[in-house]
Amino acid sequence: MVGMNLVAPVIAIDGPSGSGKGTIARQVAQLLGFHLLDSGALYRLLGLFLLQQKLAPKQMTDKELELMAKTMPVEFCPDESGEIRILLNNQMVNDQLRTEQTGEMASQLAAMPAVRDGLLQRQRDFRQAPGLVADGRDMGTVVFPDAILKVYLDASAEARAKRRRKQLIEKGENVSIAILLQDLRRRDRRDRNRKHAPLMPAYDAVNIDSTELDIDQVVKIVMELAMQRLPAG
Ligand code: C5P
Repeated sequence: MVGMNLVAPVIAIDGPSGSGKGTIARQVAQLLGFHLLDSGALYRLLGLFLLQQKLAPKQMTDKELELMAKTMPVEFCPDESGEIRILLNNQMVNDQLRTEQTGEMASQLAAMPAVRDGLLQRQRDFRQAPGLVADGRDMGTVVFPDAILKVYLDASAEARAKRRRKQLIEKGENVSIAILLQDLRRRDRRDRNRKHAPLMPAYDAVNIDSTELDIDQVVKIVMELAMQRLPAG
């Protein structure tokens, strides 16, 4: 049909670490039956890939980093429960991706334009029918500027550090709030101040502060907005 939008719709959910965007994105994707892109996982995967090979980003040229970002052997395999198994070189690495060490490496790599350029098309390739929910830092500003809904999810640093601590404790890691808060603020600063694709709300984003909201409340708000904006049917 002439004028029919043939491009799969995207819902972009951006925000700092610990804002809850990963959990919200997963639930919204599941409710809508959409694909899911956890873009932070790609930065973490590249970080882990370098750590595994004992390579420091500084030892590499921009060309090498970009090529590695484009070609690292990664697979995302959803299982029946909606969980996604992430494979690097055919090895499941979900747990290794979430460590503080991998997160720190990811955050350093994310400030490098060569890395961001290398990952750009990989991220766009996730856009497939019937639609995509993408979470990250620059989904609405850079990767999917034509997203039908852009959400910028924030929460106070203290609330985010507490959530992170709870997650870590569930995994048997005990890290103090003070240390988590310090790491979180350092990464926030790096994400917000970098020249290339800094963390910020898109001009047309809906801002949601989740400090006082639980996951179900945020999911409800995002779903209502999504239903208003998705094409009928
Ligand atoms: O969201 P997550 O903590 O997994 O992201 C890991 C790192 O990747 C972040 O610290 C951030 O610097 C970077 N990132 C980014 N752009 C994205 C997603 C993540 O710069 N779209």
